Amino acid sequence: MAPNYAPQWGVVSDSVQILEALKARALVCTQCGLADTRTQVVFGVGDPRARLMFVGEAPGQNEDLQGEPFVGAAGKLLDTLLDEIGMQRSEVYIANVLKCRPPGNRDPRPDEIDSCKGYLREQIRLISPEVVMTLGNFATKLLLNTEIGITRLRGRPHSWWLGAMLVPTFHPAAALRGGDRVAGQMREDFALVRSLLDATRGERAPMERDFEPSQMELFG
Ligand code: URA
Repeated sequence: MAPNYAPQWGVVSDSVQILEALKARALVCTQCGLADTRTQVVFGVGDPRARLMFVGEAPGQNEDLQGEPFVGAAGKLLDTLLDEIGMQRSEVYIANVLKCRPPGNRDPRPDEIDSCKGYLREQIRLISPEVVMTLGNFATKLLLNTEIGITRLRGRPHSWWLGAMLVPTFHPAAALRGGDRVAGQMREDFALVRSLLDATRGERAPMERDFEPSQMELFG
């Protein structure tokens, strides 16, 4: 596709509107069996022009009821870790690999991830964050296309898609189970994200990079 030479504000409002249209499509999605058991689709929440985007695993019970990601205990820890690096939920974007709750909070299945990953890819492309932080194994394995576990990958920044950096960390629920050691490692990873954001000083990848055909192959 040709580079987009529209004035900056035109580009911004276009991507925000397209994100809204994508959300409208997701809210009525029936691409996998989770459509039969969900209460609400949990598309994602936050600033559509966020510099920092989080990707979790899948909605749990509270999220399924409220339609918003990370509203339970894990979300409170996420808010605390954000606060400690001087940020608020309203200035980041939060999404999950799956937009619908797996019954009983079981692990996402490969076919469900396959059906849903196009939404996440478009969210990332439209928001075009400077830093993506993956929370736990499912998001990290999908976005880095790896089988390596989170314990080895956490805290290591990767130069990633669309000029973004990707930093894997544990899922907040793991810190709630794993105690101070895991929470301490997450704090280190959040501090790394803070330093990456400080180093980029708000510079984004040029918009035309969004449309490189080779990059569109990312995660399917
Ligand atoms: N765990 C997740 O991975 N995502 C949520 O939205 C809530 C809990």
